[in-house]
Amino acid sequence: MSERISMHGQWSSRLMFILAATGSAVGLGNIWKFPYIAGENGGGAFVLIYLLCIALIGIPIMMSEVLIGRRGRQSPINTLCTLARESGKASSWRVVGALGILAAFIIVSYYGVIAGWALAYIVRMASGIFTGVTAEGAASIFRGLVADPERLLAWHTIFMVMTTVLVARGVRPGLEQAIKVLMPALFVLLLILLVFAGTTGKFEEGVRFLFNPDFGAISVGGILIAMGHSFFTLSLGVGAIMMYGSYLPDGISIAKVSIAIALVDTLVALLSGLAIFPIVFATGMTADVGPGLIFQTLPIAFGQIPGGDFFGTLFFVLLVFAAWTSSISLVEPLVAWLVENKGFERSRAATRVGVCTWLLGIVTIMSFSSWSFQFSFGGETKNNGLFDVMDIMTSTFLLPLGGLAIALFAGRVMSRSSVVDELGGKDGFSFKLWYFVIRYITPAAFVAIFINRLFP
Ligand code: PHE
Repeated sequence: MSERISMHGQWSSRLMFILAATGSAVGLGNIWKFPYIAGENGGGAFVLIYLLCIALIGIPIMMSEVLIGRRGRQSPINTLCTLARESGKASSWRVVGALGILAAFIIVSYYGVIAGWALAYIVRMASGIFTGVTAEGAASIFRGLVADPERLLAWHTIFMVMTTVLVARGVRPGLEQAIKVLMPALFVLLLILLVFAGTTGKFEEGVRFLFNPDFGAISVGGILIAMGHSFFTLSLGVGAIMMYGSYLPDGISIAKVSIAIALVDTLVALLSGLAIFPIVFATGMTADVGPGLIFQTLPIAFGQIPGGDFFGTLFFVLLVFAAWTSSISLVEPLVAWLVENKGFERSRAATRVGVCTWLLGIVTIMSFSSWSFQFSFGGETKNNGLFDVMDIMTSTFLLPLGGLAIALFAGRVMSRSSVVDELGGKDGFSFKLWYFVIRYITPAAFVAIFINRLFP
């Protein structure tokens, strides 16, 4: 059979796919979100549940997304519709693709705002205002930024333009080459931060906080958040990995690449936590300050090390880059769909999507100042109104539901023979294990968790 290629193009190699998908997975979720939600949910027990979710649910679903994407070679909506029809099932499975696109649309709108904070911090770091800063000083600089909607809007605009420009050009070797340099650089910087965290005298306390499970500290809401985050951090449930899978050349082992991506992603999250919590404890802050956590702690660390301004600037540059390679993957499925179904030029599709997500971003911007309100979810008080609502709606509900639908699709809608074929043609032990997990374990886990949530 001749090789099938998506109309949008194809990655040049296996390594490029791994890099691009890792670029999508490693983002604000690892460095910004993981530490603060672990902090809000009591640490160790939350981290353990998160790791279990990655291993037992995340990796099997990532394999399913990649294989569905590669089999269909189109945007998620069309891929699901085509494959369902091929198996003699209802084409309404395309709704799953549409819901994923809706979730991605909401996520990218607030993702752009937080990436905008990181952009703002590049300038602040470079200006040297954090040299010798106190915990109170860092907190007040942060509050000053997020309470200023005009400034946030400017940075958000810049980030959305950056995203739109890349998506409009297509995922070119330029981006692929840049990822090759910047991802290792991010690792090196994390390691430098880790060394600094080791000098604070609170490293052990940080390790204990992250790895000593105190099951009393975890709520059912916390379990849902851990599960939701394992999807968010692996970019699952919204069609992003399915889209990238549609650009994956035939003949590459889906199991191996999925495990590699999940491992790197998890490592980055854990290293971020290990770098950040000792600093949090050393400066007398509490772990549960919420979304501002890294913006209030890391500057204190950088303010104390020689050359800290420089490394701090670089760190936020890399954080922006990590966010950038994630946001393009959030936008790509919708852009590809507009090209496939509406006959749009890629650049026109990207611009439309960019403008719409930019507009929705204003809701997040205002959630940190005049539109903020409090509510409680899963035993936690949430302070940032509609931002928190959108975050919970997507990460806690839409992504896991999307993941469940994807597991059902690969496990029950597609024929067993086409799934075996896509996974390398061998119907051996590892295939059977994976198949059992996505057919039985994953759906059962979802049902149990959601029932528990709805009828506590
Ligand atoms: N995985 C990205 C992160 O951790 C976020 C993301 C979610 C990207 C869903 C694409 C799809 O920051």
